[in-house]
Amino acid sequence: MAKFLFGTDLDNTLVGDDEALKELNGHLQQHRQNYGTKIVYITGRSLTLYRKLTTEQPLLEPDALITAVGTEIYYNAHEEIPHPAWSQQLSQAWERDSVVACAAHYADLVPQPETEQLPFKVSYFLTEEAALEVLPRLEKLFQERGLNVRLIYSSGKDLDILPKRGGKGLAMQFLREQWGFDGSQTVVCGDSGNDIALFSMDKERGIIVGNAQPELLQWYEINPAEHRYLAKAHYAAGILEGLYYFKFLGNNEE
Ligand code: GLC
Ligand code: MG
Repeated sequence: MAKFLFGTDLDNTLVGDDEALKELNGHLQQHRQNYGTKIVYITGRSLTLYRKLTTEQPLLEPDALITAVGTEIYYNAHEEIPHPAWSQQLSQAWERDSVVACAAHYADLVPQPETEQLPFKVSYFLTEEAALEVLPRLEKLFQERGLNVRLIYSSGKDLDILPKRGGKGLAMQFLREQWGFDGSQTVVCGDSGNDIALFSMDKERGIIVGNAQPELLQWYEINPAEHRYLAKAHYAAGILEGLYYFKFLGNNEE
């Protein structure tokens, strides 16, 4: 067995099945101790909502934490200031006030709570029906105004607007390069739209849990690849299934 870089989304990917989560935690903890495997949580949540989740779920202490859809990186959840080099990269050509002003034209965009509005992330609730019409228009408006942003729609309800250089995939790549893991030594797991970026970087092994949202399943149908695996099992059990499939965990550990 060799060390690997393990990155996972939290809500409805790692978290969702308590028994399976405990079992997976045991494997990961042991692998980290024995081989130096690194564990990264990659969530849409703010640091505030991540901390809340840690009081509700038995999460391991990660080696790094990517929050707010890849717009903040922390080496541990007790830090207050996100990684300055990453923030610096995101700040280039990002005009947050103009983004908010554009979005204000659309009554269908309902601002998410204050905790989820962050320096490099502006977030709304948007229904699926309204999204069909609003998303293309909003995209066009940003283009016309010369605003270089990334629109990410997840779970038929959440719209995140980020700097073009933001997103979960690029944030994970930043850590991967810092720690010197290549794509084949890296595995990423997710269930929804904001995880698509994780699966489209550098041939990282990708695990899509069996309970994934339609937008991710659709993307996977159009973009199948040997390095992507759609698990049958849900939540952490789906992650375990994928880790065995890619042979990151050996049969003797079962
Ligand atoms: C989390 C965040 C929310 C975001 C969503 C999808 O629920 O709290 O702000 O919109 O993930 O990325
Ligand atoms: Mg999720």
